[in-house]
Amino acid sequence: MAVTEGARILVASNRGPVSYTVEESGALVARRGGGGLVSGLSAIGPDADAVWVCAALSEGDREAVRRTGGALDTADTGGQRVRMLGIDPGVYADAYNGVANSVLWFVHHMLYQTPLEPAFGREFRRQWASYEAYNQAFAKALAEEAAQGAAVLVQDYHLALTPRMLRGLRPDLRIGHFSHTPWAPPEYFGLLPDDIAAQLLGGILGADRAAFLTRRWADAFTDCCHAVLGPGIPSGERVGVHGLGADAEFLRERAHRPDVDEWLAVLREQIGSAPDGTPRRTIVRVDRTELSKNIVRGLLAYEELLRSRPEWRERVVHVAFAYPSRQDLAVYRAYTAEVRRVAEEINSRYGTPDWTPVELHVKDDFARSLAAYRMADVALVNPIRDGMNLVAKEVPVVSDEGCALVLSREAGAHEELGEDAVTVNPYDVVGTAAALHEALSMPAPERAERSKALAARATALPPGQWFLDQLAALEA
Ligand code: G6P
Repeated sequence: MAVTEGARILVASNRGPVSYTVEESGALVARRGGGGLVSGLSAIGPDADAVWVCAALSEGDREAVRRTGGALDTADTGGQRVRMLGIDPGVYADAYNGVANSVLWFVHHMLYQTPLEPAFGREFRRQWASYEAYNQAFAKALAEEAAQGAAVLVQDYHLALTPRMLRGLRPDLRIGHFSHTPWAPPEYFGLLPDDIAAQLLGGILGADRAAFLTRRWADAFTDCCHAVLGPGIPSGERVGVHGLGADAEFLRERAHRPDVDEWLAVLREQIGSAPDGTPRRTIVRVDRTELSKNIVRGLLAYEELLRSRPEWRERVVHVAFAYPSRQDLAVYRAYTAEVRRVAEEINSRYGTPDWTPVELHVKDDFARSLAAYRMADVALVNPIRDGMNLVAKEVPVVSDEGCALVLSREAGAHEELGEDAVTVNPYDVVGTAAALHEALSMPAPERAERSKALAARATALPPGQWFLDQLAALEA
């Protein structure tokens, strides 16, 4: 394709807006995903001539790439032009599982148990070469798809090297990089080998602008640049902050469709009534079963609540939706098993014939999640570290009668929502139990008022605005 025929706006991310499975008949079934980028892109309208470049994640995706050459059928994508890259499965696994999820994710969320891990040996160096090849495949595809002077928005830790590589291929482009994760402080980022640390920072600085969800993560990035690359790099205007809010319009409409109403009735039935006949209270959490989400300590805090405040026994249910994530990684499988074990232990210790203290569900269902959001008396969002955390923002938006939010001070969302939340240190199990008690005890009018204030702040930066602001900042 000649450069002049290319797209004016490009987005690049590991996970694209659609995924495929191959049915027994051989038919390909497309499943569209959601998220900030999908709603963000819709703000520029269908005529904007945008292309989304993403990787094939599964065998189904790779089959779709084989059948289409990578330019996906727009009937599958909701009209969005998508180029899916069929990267060699071995290279992909090294880049995604090995480097992105086992190293970069761990560094930025500070998840290592440092006496044993990490140890960057030859295996890591081999995987790093795959990470470079994977980033190069994105740079090449973007260079092919972009019109002269186009704007390219590269997403997240999977693609830290792509901006510099793309700059080398196409100096005419305006390139932005956006991190959806926290950024590690220099002392922790310094776990990485020096040459790797320098490549990662230099890769992102190949963009005209590096942007983050909060000031805290942006400052940590700048601090790492100073520590690794020297003072004065980067200049202030090249580092930006764009908070991402909940999509109120979409959520409110979606949360009142019949399938959500049906789930609401099912959940109410499951949760049942306290001995005095009043409906039981609910503490709701919805997460991927992700190490950084701190689900186990959340369960332990709930157990501590039941132990120390017996008045809540039989009067409250912890509704925990923990959806499978990154199951190719052994630590995620082990964590998933631990979540189950602890939930079962609480149920067998405290449960009665007509009260199940923890309702743990692991099968992903968006309509059921929204039903839980609507009915939550308390939302528990206690991550160890989190770039933003959209659940904290979504629950107050769809809540039927207002919910109290127990929120980790280590979530990016805390910068915006802290004032009206009950703040917790995610490691402090006893403190989190006390916060749950405070949230459950909050008088209904106060809870409703705080929930309204939370919803207003949570929707102040809708995904469309988030996306347009980044484009505007690149133009400037
Ligand atoms: C985080 C990352 C995203 C990622 C998502 C789900 O939010 O910032 O880039 O897509 O987790 O993780 P997964 O590995 O399933 O794509």
